[in-house]
Amino acid sequence: MPNNKTLPNYAPGLEGVIAGVSAISKVDPAGDELLYYGYKVSQLCERSSFEEVCYLLLNEGRLPDKKDLENFRGKMSSERNVPAEITDYLCKMPKEAHYMDILRSAVSLFAHFDKQTEDNSKAAELAKSIRLLAKVPTVLAARVRVLRGNKPVSPHQSLGHAANFLYMVNGEEPAPDFAKALDVSLICYAEHGFNASTFTARVAASTLTDMHSSIVGAIGALKGPLHGGANEKAMYMLREIGDPAKAEKYIRDKLAKKEKIMGFGHRVYKKKDSRAPIVKKYALKLAEKSGEKKWHEMSDIIERVLMAEKKLFPNVDFPAAVLYYLLGLPIEVDTPLFVVSRISGWCAHVMEQRADNKLIRPDQHYTGPEAREYISIDKR
Ligand SMILES: CC(C)(COP(=O)(O)OP(=O)(O)OC[C@H]1O[C@@H](n2cnc3c(N)ncnc32)[C@H](O)[C@@H]1OP(=O)(O)O)[C@@H](O)C(=O)NCCC(=O)NCCS
Repeated sequence: MPNNKTLPNYAPGLEGVIAGVSAISKVDPAGDELLYYGYKVSQLCERSSFEEVCYLLLNEGRLPDKKDLENFRGKMSSERNVPAEITDYLCKMPKEAHYMDILRSAVSLFAHFDKQTEDNSKAAELAKSIRLLAKVPTVLAARVRVLRGNKPVSPHQSLGHAANFLYMVNGEEPAPDFAKALDVSLICYAEHGFNASTFTARVAASTLTDMHSSIVGAIGALKGPLHGGANEKAMYMLREIGDPAKAEKYIRDKLAKKEKIMGFGHRVYKKKDSRAPIVKKYALKLAEKSGEKKWHEMSDIIERVLMAEKKLFPNVDFPAAVLYYLLGLPIEVDTPLFVVSRISGWCAHVMEQRADNKLIRPDQHYTGPEAREYISIDKR
């Protein structure tokens, strides 16, 4: 068998391969800063809101004026309700069911109730994107409450996206710094080019299937621990370590066994993930407020060891895991919160794919046997 790595036009994992054209986001080589349609994510985190970022992504890079934003917010909050049949059904699924599977099923079920499921026009795609963004958090919060033995809480129509999610989970309006911390993490998670889940959504969209099917595929791809699943795995690891005094040995043991540390490294960033310090700053604010500082003490030790030993840096999933924990959310919702945010990027990519579509259907390098005669069963 040939050495696959040396085949012409082949890169394992499509690393470094240009698989399409996109105007939505890029990592600016000057400073490794992530840009959404040219706007720095760091600035968007400080000066805008998740809803404004959704508007930007879904409207081909246009920032809304005050009226646009008000209308967009109004549309999003008016779409938050989910048919009771769906919430009831999903809340009755076995309690062990993974939250990502619940969200994947939720989007599938939404398709049956959406009158525009089969309409791939631009206007319908935009309307469906808003509905998906609005409804997914409602299902997620309902499931959290039911598993905690509480009844779901109806969405609050006048709260922002992040604040409303915390309201639906806790049944009371969150403190502004809690809502802001979640909002910032959602902005950071909104979009990141041709990552595995977005590429999955684009591959599906390129067949001219519907938006819901594309998003179902994307959720499945995001679930994996090498992608979105890393945030919850990182928090389970921190909880398993439990004590800053044990962190260094724990990590060195894992490295000695050649195990990967979740929440570190990145396919695109090679020196740092510029989103990580932004999210960490807000997580630190929560830690200072609550006095729960051990998660950051452990994180600092792990970051130091991984930089020294492997030149690895934390990606956004590592501080996000701590931030969500400090918000009092169950670890199982870490990756689903990535979905809550990334729907914006996925939908933007589905629409971009549609605007200049070509079926995505790459070639393979075949390594199986050449043509041979079938041998009847009694002669084998
Ligand atoms: C994100 C990721 C898949 C990128 O992977 P990639 O570009 O395919 O790079 P590789 O997995 O081939 O890693 C290259 C080298 O760095 C090491 N490495 C990369 N990430 C590592 C991690 N998190 N922990 C330990 N070692 C790591 C690999 O073991 C490999 O070492 P080797 O050359 O000695 O075999 C990888 O960094 C990873 O698995 N990280 C953990 C999961 C994670 O946090 N995912 C979220 C990404 S936002």
